[in-house]
Amino acid sequence: MKLVVIGCGYVGLVTGGCLAAARHEVVATDNDASKIATLQAGRIPIYEPHLDEVVAAARRAGRLRFTTDAGDAIRSGDVIFICVGTPPRATGEADLSAIDNVARLIAAEARSPKLVVEKSTVPAQTGQNLKRALNVYGHSSGLHFDVASNPEFLREGTAVGDFFHPDRIVVGVEGVEADRQLREVYEPIVEGRFECVLHPNGCPQSAKPEFLVTTIPSAELIKHASNSFLALKISYANVISDLCERLGGNVEEVTRAMGLDPRIGPQFLKAGLGFGGFCLPKDIQAFIHLAEQVGVDFSLLKEAERINRQRIERLMEKVRNHLWVVKDKQIALLGLAFKPFTDDIRLAPALEVIRRLQAEGAKLRATDPQAIERARAIFPDVIYNADPYEIARGADALLVLTEWPQFKQLDWSRIHREMARPLVLDTRNMLDPLTMKLQGFEYDSFGRPEANASVTAESSR
Ligand code: UDX
Repeated sequence: MKLVVIGCGYVGLVTGGCLAAARHEVVATDNDASKIATLQAGRIPIYEPHLDEVVAAARRAGRLRFTTDAGDAIRSGDVIFICVGTPPRATGEADLSAIDNVARLIAAEARSPKLVVEKSTVPAQTGQNLKRALNVYGHSSGLHFDVASNPEFLREGTAVGDFFHPDRIVVGVEGVEADRQLREVYEPIVEGRFECVLHPNGCPQSAKPEFLVTTIPSAELIKHASNSFLALKISYANVISDLCERLGGNVEEVTRAMGLDPRIGPQFLKAGLGFGGFCLPKDIQAFIHLAEQVGVDFSLLKEAERINRQRIERLMEKVRNHLWVVKDKQIALLGLAFKPFTDDIRLAPALEVIRRLQAEGAKLRATDPQAIERARAIFPDVIYNADPYEIARGADALLVLTEWPQFKQLDWSRIHREMARPLVLDTRNMLDPLTMKLQGFEYDSFGRPEANASVTAESSR
């Protein structure tokens, strides 16, 4: 099938690359000529594990082409995936101007009927506005445009795997033709007929993902509702973490026991510094705004957002409690990305931590396996080093901000020797409190009063 992807950001590249790996022909276009030039030169402008392999293989097979000629791209395919950004406006509502521009472009350039698919995260009712815009802008051509919604649930750092092995594929359609076309698009994914870079010797047996067909408004709501609920779970776990600190519980054990109940589920109950990234915070704001627009009180989500912002407060309280005076203290930061396996620092909690510590006069050194250059662009006066031991040298405190697995593998006894004061604040509960204690560290984390950790270790030995 001939497919078109408009917008070569992270969603567009994963969608285009993976659908080409599923033996579709894909033409991808973007109005950023330098991005297209980078892609045509075989480079991927973002760090996403396996994406470079997927794109390179699809281009070698002649199934994926990048072009700045949007008209040529639009005329080359029957199904057009809109993957442009929908960043938040100051009000929190999603900025849909890029979608509107694409509608105008499609209406102007198309020479045959098209199925136009929303892949970007959009508020409910965008589909009907998009359809009206397409038909208004294109009325002189007399062409008919069908619209569908196909939200993505890709997580940064595991996006390629999430696309090839989804929990579900959701499509919102108005008619049988759009349903038929999207079934054909995803059939190779549902049936497991694609070149999987994650499993070159064949994918593990697993249940087929559900192909869920619903209306466009429902599909649009499914995306916001799912992301917002994930954020709710995280904020809930963070309140439990505060309770554990006051009542002597261990949040890891409490949330593990909660998650053993299949009605709750184990995922997204990890307490810590809170959620960041370009999805959860933005989608919550857009959902709250949308609810207000239609007179629905969503203070539940507002509370989840407030609790999330409070995590930084909790950390600053710990920093002050341990350091007494923060001014002129040398603080080492392990991790800048909003989570591991990405170079993305958009709305990363680490950014707010840097702002707060600098405001209190701390001297900062930071490291991250992938995100240093993106952070340096925002905070040029922080000292960066790819070597964690270098940033630990002479530090009065070390803060773990992103749980990159390589940080866990560090030689912590060497870190201990490098630091001026072996004080570690682990905001991702990545390390084991008892092990850190035995190595002579002053160690603190979220929701795990040290007492509890030692008792547990004794009993499990
Ligand atoms: C999210 C959704 O998971 C994905 O389905 C959607 O398509 C896009 O938004 P992503 O933003 O990549 O994906 O990150 P995710 O893995 O959801 O993590 C979001 C944030 O929550 C990160 O900052 C992470 O550190 C934090 N988090 C996650 C927790 O604090 N605790 C958890 O238990 C899980």
